[in-house]
Amino acid sequence: MVKDTALLKITDKRPDKAKIKFCADLIKSGKLVVFPSETVYGLGANALCSEAVKKIFIAKGRPSDNPLIVHVSSIEMAEGLVKKIPDRVREAMNLFWPGPITFVLEKNDKIPDNVTCGLNTVGVRLPSNKIARKIIEISGCPIAAPSANLSGKPSPTKAKHVVDDLFGRVDAIVDGGNASVGLESTVIDVSKKTPVLLRPGGITLEHLEEIFGKIDIANSNAKKPKCPGMKYRHYAPKATFYLFDGKTEREKISKLKKMFKDLQKKGKRVAIIGSQETRKRFSEEYYEDFYMMKERGNLEFLGSKIFNLLRKLDRKEYDYILMGTCKVEGIGRAIMNRVEKASSKIF
Ligand code: TXA
Ligand code: MG
Repeated sequence: MVKDTALLKITDKRPDKAKIKFCADLIKSGKLVVFPSETVYGLGANALCSEAVKKIFIAKGRPSDNPLIVHVSSIEMAEGLVKKIPDRVREAMNLFWPGPITFVLEKNDKIPDNVTCGLNTVGVRLPSNKIARKIIEISGCPIAAPSANLSGKPSPTKAKHVVDDLFGRVDAIVDGGNASVGLESTVIDVSKKTPVLLRPGGITLEHLEEIFGKIDIANSNAKKPKCPGMKYRHYAPKATFYLFDGKTEREKISKLKKMFKDLQKKGKRVAIIGSQETRKRFSEEYYEDFYMMKERGNLEFLGSKIFNLLRKLDRKEYDYILMGTCKVEGIGRAIMNRVEKASSKIF
């Protein structure tokens, strides 16, 4: 069904009250509103209304066994959705919220089954983006929201990405500028004795270990993934995406460079995502196919831009995208998790 999609620009610094109310009223009446968050844009509906939640799955073509995160505007609101918040989880919420982390806890009966796809747990998150928080607060509804992309596409970090994917499929899209983190939230299951990191994100494993001590890390390649969304191929660009690993930077770059030359000889259009240091290893004639030229190790910048870049390279119709791996630590763990899913091979 084609919908009339309202486009609203709202600034984070001083969110326009009338526009926030417009969005909150839509949420209250069971409609779909795309809102900005610090991680990625979210496709929101009233989390307590199963009919509204159903529309989310239809709008983004999402498999019905991939549960949604519920966004709240306070710890008290989260408390009303779960059986209990253990002390150390509350401590973590106080420390990391509002911010890019989702806690999976045992749910109570208020949450409809289609939010959690029948699981007895629910993921809750208090975003730091002011616009998101205001819409939740003014509507008075917890908001269920997956990333606001069509299923399988890279997550949206700009309103333009959302318009490309969902215009005509949702009731409103709020343009609140670029997402600052640019990667989806960390998801940690704290419903069990030993917490399980289900998805790495902006709040790092190293941070979480300081509070929780030992944390298990879910294996997304396991036959029966702990985290339902893990089994789907995500973030896929149209181009063939290859990663290059090695014991040293030199080894990685040599492999990448050889592949670049081989593919070019075959007449392919090849883009490289690399640092300034890597670019120096190529001659100037190839600079126009080089993206993301910050200093090596600036992973916050890479994380905030990677989804935007994958979409951009698709628009430019590259045949191949080549990128070196980064260290699986800090925010690098989240970046590697996403690019491993998006790529088809690691050399
Ligand atoms: O940053 C984010 O988390 C963004 C913004 C909009 O908040 N949302 C987001 O949602 O990335 P989505 O639907 O693309 O990813 C949600 C993932 C699911 O695929 C699943 O892996 C995990 O969160 N999840 C949600 N509820 C869960 C539960 N009860 N048990 C285990 N995993 C859950
Ligand atoms: Mg998603």
